[in-house]
Amino acid sequence: MPGYQQTYEMQRAALHAPQQHPGHYDQIAVTPLSGALGARVEGVDLSDLDEAGFAEIERALVDHLVLTFPDQDLEPAAQVAFARRFGPLMDYPFAKTMAEHPEVTELISEPDDVFNFGGSWHSDSPNFDRPPKITMTYCAVAPETGGDTSFANQYLAWETLSDGMRRLLEPMTAMHSTALSYGTDSAVGQTAFKAQTSTPTGIGGNARHDDEFEHPVARTHPDTGRKALYVCDSYAARFAGMTQEESLPLLRYLWAHAILPEFTCRVHWQAGTLTMWDNRCAMHYAHNDYPGQRRVMRRIIVEGEKPV
Ligand code: SIN
Repeated sequence: MPGYQQTYEMQRAALHAPQQHPGHYDQIAVTPLSGALGARVEGVDLSDLDEAGFAEIERALVDHLVLTFPDQDLEPAAQVAFARRFGPLMDYPFAKTMAEHPEVTELISEPDDVFNFGGSWHSDSPNFDRPPKITMTYCAVAPETGGDTSFANQYLAWETLSDGMRRLLEPMTAMHSTALSYGTDSAVGQTAFKAQTSTPTGIGGNARHDDEFEHPVARTHPDTGRKALYVCDSYAARFAGMTQEESLPLLRYLWAHAILPEFTCRVHWQAGTLTMWDNRCAMHYAHNDYPGQRRVMRRIIVEGEKPV
């Protein structure tokens, strides 16, 4: 039809090479979850891991961004000990932690809950000056059906933008806001949300309602040197130096682009599954599709560096 203009372009093939060619490992068995990111790791007991086995897990995490370990048997203290091997642990001031294990946040969904924790695409805590590099979640109780978590590879999100868009975004930074995610006007801050979820959230510890931190729109991973898109709609309020109104059209485009199905994988949980992910290059989304069932996760975050 003359004058007809397609309103979208087909997604170009996206390649994250380690998914097609996993490395060689002596102690662990690594099976990719999708073409984009994620691997299942078997043949290892995370509570009894020597230095060589730990080094293989560190290498696999750099390659696959998300690792899921089925059939683990980890009490909170053992999970804390494993997490500490990746670096100092961080407090999470936005949800209640376990009384005897302040490093562990328990994410609980009861059968009557309407809302869940983590039910939006995000990277963990970009509203910190130094956001956590790794999040590690152990499933204590899994729903019979549903309750999966999806992940999206943000290297691919960045690398599949056009040259012109990357040139535009490269020098830009964005403001990441606590109020946007946990303030009284946010979805999570509303009374209706709080009344219908079993994971208490709020702004505690040293965090402040008006905390905002400026981070690059594309951050460079310290281990791989690759750039990853680093904006998510839970926290990115606007580009630095611009109004929200000016920022939103481009932010909305980036949020939609960042989670294209070609960039994702999906983790299915069973009691005893531990999954860890690298927040510097992956986003995640907890599916809220298991009403009437219980789900309990124990979550730990590991200190990261200031994004550059
Ligand atoms: C989150 O850390 O956002 C929650 C992940 C999950 O419960 O699957």
